[in-house]
Amino acid sequence: MAKGKTTVFFCQECGYESAKWMGQCPGCHAWNTFVEEKVEKITPAKRKAAGEAEVTTLARIETKEELRITTKIDELDRVLGGGIVKGSLVLVGGDPGIGKSTLLLQVCRNLSVQERKVLYISGEESLRQIKIRAERIGEFTESLSLLCETNLDVIHEVIKKERPEVVVIDSIQTMYSEAVSSAPGSVSQVREATATFMQIAKGMDITIFIVGHVTKEGVVAGPRVLEHMVDTVLYFEGERHASYRILRGVKNRFGSTNEMGVFEMREDGLHEVENPSEYMLSGRPEDASGSVVACSMEGTRPILIEVQALVCHSNFGIPRRTAAGTDFNRVNLLMAVLEKRVGLKMSDCDAYINIAGGIRMNEPAIDLGIVLALVSSYKEIAIDDKTICFGEVGLSGEVRAVSMARQRVAEAKKLGFNRCILPKVSLQDMKQIDGIKLEGVENVQDAIRFIST
Ligand code: TYD
Ligand code: MG
Repeated sequence: MAKGKTTVFFCQECGYESAKWMGQCPGCHAWNTFVEEKVEKITPAKRKAAGEAEVTTLARIETKEELRITTKIDELDRVLGGGIVKGSLVLVGGDPGIGKSTLLLQVCRNLSVQERKVLYISGEESLRQIKIRAERIGEFTESLSLLCETNLDVIHEVIKKERPEVVVIDSIQTMYSEAVSSAPGSVSQVREATATFMQIAKGMDITIFIVGHVTKEGVVAGPRVLEHMVDTVLYFEGERHASYRILRGVKNRFGSTNEMGVFEMREDGLHEVENPSEYMLSGRPEDASGSVVACSMEGTRPILIEVQALVCHSNFGIPRRTAAGTDFNRVNLLMAVLEKRVGLKMSDCDAYINIAGGIRMNEPAIDLGIVLALVSSYKEIAIDDKTICFGEVGLSGEVRAVSMARQRVAEAKKLGFNRCILPKVSLQDMKQIDGIKLEGVENVQDAIRFIST
């Protein structure tokens, strides 16, 4: 072993560090995740000389006027909390092929059109491949530079020399530092690379976008410490066979995290979907039982979605249940509520719940939608297709208030719905709205009255 290097074992899941190999990680309790890596000891000489650090007061820190840069992609700007923050480190995670490189190249294009200096560093694709992609996306100007490189030291030097305003690193798993002897993509390499980019971002006031691959389990490959280190974590998700993509903020030091952006992947790159409700509801069946429109808030924006249920008699002792796009346990709970509080015999029924369009919705406000879809399918009675509903359902079958009822009703009205089933309590702070009938319900039995011929 080289002098000054020690062997350390890292948990590949959470980055837990140990001197010995262990079967189970004490940090995240995952099994068999420890991998041996060699790290260099930081000698005191390498540390910053103690006298160099200086303290300051809040009053002495200058904040410049123009703190945020717009990407000219509204959906992205909103998820970022109103544009790119100077000097921030943004992690964009997502499955391979979901469109991370495409999105960031589009950001580069928009910034370069604004004459901002941008540097796109790719460790995965050759310059020719990037060019082919760029040609599909559109016009670029001279202020965008490209670099194919994976060596951190080289990248650091280039950034120092070029001084761009925004840097894109595609992807963090391909970057390596010579100071760390383990392979690119390993915990210590990813950690080292992120720390280096953090220093560059904060030290030179450069915004850095980092692309991070996601493992099968849906977490950014490499340690979770990566998420702790960066300022903002965005996840890009969507079904591979569906053309729309959803960008969610998971962590944001400069804005709210429950915003989401909706995009559509076309031949010429990603396009913003300004009215996702319309998009999600397209192709809805007419007069079909087991289908109802519910409303979920994604950050400040209401989104209407179609909840579908198929309830049929089970031929086996244990009924089959699936939930696509929503929480499986929640569906089971709501079925239990229907059985106990309404007296529907759900226990010998198979049930399949689907949020149409492949989108994931976990807001409790869609509970009422799930309940109505289940009952509609069970009774084989279609719900009027100009009706929407929202409300949280409690264990005693009560329909509880949800936030921002007014915005939800307004969205429903905008899309041409004329009846809204909502929690009775939410009616109090709302006046009647022309063109849409508001039906306040107190409990599930109340709501089910609307499913009858
Ligand atoms: P990409 O951005 O390379 O994904 P990631 O970087 O997340 O791995 O996206 C690649 C996919 O997007 C690929 O399957 C082709 C598709 N695509 C389009 O449909 N239209 C386009 O204009 C581009 C550039 C890609
Ligand atoms: Mg890519």
